[in-house]
Amino acid sequence: MSKIVIENELIRLRETTPEDVERVIAIERDEENRRYVYNWPKERHLESIQSEDERHFMVEDQKNGKVVGYIILSSMTSPHDVIEFDRITIDIKGKGYGRQCVRLIKKLCFETYGCHRLWLDVFDDNPKARKLYESEGFVFEGTLRECKKYEDGYRSMHILSMLSQEYGKAENR
Ligand SMILES: CC(C)(COP(=O)(O)OP(=O)(O)OC[C@H]1O[C@@H](n2cnc3c(N)ncnc32)[C@H](O)[C@@H]1OP(=O)(O)O)[C@@H](O)C(=O)NCCC(=O)NCCS
Repeated sequence: MSKIVIENELIRLRETTPEDVERVIAIERDEENRRYVYNWPKERHLESIQSEDERHFMVEDQKNGKVVGYIILSSMTSPHDVIEFDRITIDIKGKGYGRQCVRLIKKLCFETYGCHRLWLDVFDDNPKARKLYESEGFVFEGTLRECKKYEDGYRSMHILSMLSQEYGKAENR
């Protein structure tokens, strides 16, 4: 078992190991997920696990120890105290794992990593994820219009963020 980074009653986040990468890729490429998150080759995930600038976590259910998703943070070495909440993919949806992950990531970034600005992008055709982030206190900043080229055309991304002073408010914890 690799190192547990943060946990609560429902879930724990532990460091991803090279042995986890096949599972990560299976989740990432699942039909329900692949449109909403970048699809990396195995080598890129392995690089991320080793990277100073990134954190790669497996999400596990506390009760049965099963992997329910994974998370990537990036720009960890930013001199501006900015962290990108780069990726979250939950395999078993609608059970509250996503919300618990967002809460633990906020806590980890602001309370442990000294983050000032935690930000993310979300495709404009993913209202479920956007709603989750906004309900957790992330602020919509704007839209990068048609910024990504895909086989079926250009796609737009919304930018959302939370600042440390906003995390300080009780309703955003
Ligand atoms: C988006 C995602 C991370 C959410 O995780 P989850 O575990 O399914 O979400 P939760 O069960 O914690 O639900 C969080 C909120 O999402 C919304 N939600 C959940 N299921 C929903 C559904 N079927 N339709 C619409 N909204 C829904 C609700 O607002 C819910 O809040 P509530 O608990 O107050 O009802 C997950 O669905 C996922 O991995 N999706 C594919 C990849 C992806 O989109 N990643 C994010 C890229 S920015």
